[in-house]
Formats: sequence, C-alpha cells, structure tokens
Amino acid sequence: MPNFKAAVGNTGGRYFGFVIGGSLPVTVAANWLAAAWDQNAGLKITSPLAAKLEEVAAEWLLELLGLPPQAGVGFVTGATMANFCGLAAARHALLKRKGWNIEAQGLYGAPEIKVVVGAEVHVSPLKALSLLGFGSERVIRVPINSEGEMLPDQLPPLDDMTIVCLQAGNVNSGAIDPLEEICRMAQAKGAWVHIDGAFGLWGAASRQIVHQLKGYELADSWATDLHKWLNVPYDSGVVICKNPQNLRAAMSINAAYIPPQEEREPYAFTPEMSRRARGVEAWAALYALGKSGVAALIERSCLHAALFAKKLKRAGPAGTTDQDFFRDKPPAGRNGEIRKRRRKTTGHSLLRYAQFHALCGGQYGL
Ligand SMILES: Cc1ncc(COP(=O)(O)O)c(C=O)c1O
Repeated sequence: MPNFKAAVGNTGGRYFGFVIGGSLPVTVAANWLAAAWDQNAGLKITSPLAAKLEEVAAEWLLELLGLPPQAGVGFVTGATMANFCGLAAARHALLKRKGWNIEAQGLYGAPEIKVVVGAEVHVSPLKALSLLGFGSERVIRVPINSEGEMLPDQLPPLDDMTIVCLQAGNVNSGAIDPLEEICRMAQAKGAWVHIDGAFGLWGAASRQIVHQLKGYELADSWATDLHKWLNVPYDSGVVICKNPQNLRAAMSINAAYIPPQEEREPYAFTPEMSRRARGVEAWAALYALGKSGVAALIERSCLHAALFAKKLKRAGPAGTTDQDFFRDKPPAGRNGEIRKRRRKTTGHSLLRYAQFHALCGGQYGL
C-alpha cells in the first residue's frame, strides 16, 4: 500500500507553505475527464475539443486580466515555462530587429542582448534565461528597496536590445515592481518588458487589487500560473505575448504532416508538440467561478494574508498580495525540517512548519 501520510495536504485551507495552489472540485473533475479522454492538445486535428476549450479559456483569461484581446496565449506547465516562452519571444523580437533569425541561426555570433532583473528576482526567470542561452549570471541586477521592489533610478541605460524582466509578486514579500514607471522608461527606449506574475498577475482580476499593478498592461509579455491562484491541478501556467507573432515565431515549427496553420494551432504557442489538455481545466475553473468568483477568491486570500500578518506581531511589511515574510531567528536545523514552535501571537498554541532558509533583506524568514 502506498504511504498516504507522505502526501502533503496542500489542498487544505491551513496549508501555508510556499506559493502553492489548491484545487477546485470542478478542476479536478475536468482533469480526470480530459485524462480519461486521453486528449492530445498539441494540434487541432488531434483534439478539436481541447483546442476549442483552450481558445475560449485564453479569451476569457485575457478579458479577466485586462490584457489585449489579440495577445498570443500558450498553455504551458507553469510559470517557469511561461517565463521561458515570454523571454524566447523577446529574444526573437529583439534579434529580428537586427536582421538576425535566432531560430534558424542560433545564438553564436548573434548581436548582444542585455537582460535586466531586480536584485530579488525569482530563480524561475533565471532558470529560463539559462535555458535560453543568456546565462543566469550574465544578467544586470538592479538594486531594490526594503520591500524588494526594483528602484527605477538604479536601472542601467536601456535600449532596443534590452530585456527588462519585472516581477509582479515577490515570492518573499509579495512586492510588485513599479511597473508603470519602468514600462514607460523601457518603451521610450524600445526595450522589451517581460513580467513574471506567477501569482501577482492575478491581482488584475480584482477591482480592489488591480491598482497595485498599475501599468502592468504596458508590458510586452507576461507569465503566470494557473496551478496557483486559479486552483487547477498541477501542472499549468500561461505565457501571454502582446504581439502573438513573436511568440508563434519563437515556438512554432513546421513539418510536412502538420496541417497548414490558418487558425490558432495550440502547439504553435508552446515548446511542446504533444501534450495533455490542460486548457480544459482552465476553462472549467473560469466557467465555474466566473469573473466575480475569481475576484472573490483572490480578495479572500489577500484578506487572510493580511489577517495572518496582523496576528503575527513580529510580521514584516504588510504583504501586497498573498505573500508575506515573517522574520525569524537564523535557522539552526536543516532546510525543509519540520519544526514545532509555540507562538502566542498566532492564536494557535502550536505552529507546525517546515523551516526553509529564506533570506529577505539579509534576514531569515519563515
Ligand atoms: C514569482 C514566481 N515566479 C515563478 C515561480 C515558479 O513557478 P512554477 O513553479 O509554476 O514554475 C514562482 C513560484 O512560486 C514564483 O513565485
């Protein structure tokens, strides 16, 4: 018998680890159905149903997040792949300006691209950058304030061969970079802006929260997770690219047996060809929740985070989204060790937590 105790109960309301989503009954049901149908969502011809539901889900997502309706959307495995695809589209577009076809000619001898990130960038875009041949250590790291937001006056000179990778939702503090200011600075110089909004971009779905993301719509590409705040089963995320041609050019391939693409072909927006029909779950979540349901879900999480922060008197700066950072003593144990600690301030006598050696602003966090 499998040891079910070894499964982590992250679908419960009292799971506070990492930034991990739960699931909705409807998304689990959609996942089971799509698995039972064994749909290959790569091509329209291999699953007209998956292609259509993906198309509808993409349209709804763009509307919900207030992004341009003509944008290109790819359903990928999560934010890391979404970052990869958004940055690949950026690489394509910038090099094309210089007459360089990256997909055909590769990176050797290509004109140089400068990549700018915040000092507290998530490792996910760094991984994407390393996979794309940019090198995770070749990036320019811009200093941040105490919340983890990039300081616009510390940006290096920008030009039309620069990619600025911003963050909507710092994993430690929930902080959001000054999106409007930096997007305008980048636009003026022809630089490409990519936003890693793995969880923070969902704030755009709420009228109460969207003001914290002011200017997010000015970017060129966005990455977000569906398996976090939309509560679909793992693995699920989306890349969104303002100009769909850039994403399509970076991702698509052609083979004699693949029908010509007059309409949207799902595989043309993702790195994979054959893949599972994850768009079915996204469609089910959006259909069941509706716009107001998604907004309520986001707002409820933020209220809980604020309450959590209030109750933990030693909390750091109030979380801007659903993340907060609680300063703790330097860790004594191993990373991931399950510890128990009495905390009078939580209202619960015993807090059981996995200790991770998170560092934020030079301080250890819980
Ligand atoms: C800001 C940010 N970017 C990227 C990621 C990576 O997301 P995924 O694990 O879905 O690839 C995370 C995960 O927590 C995140 O918080």
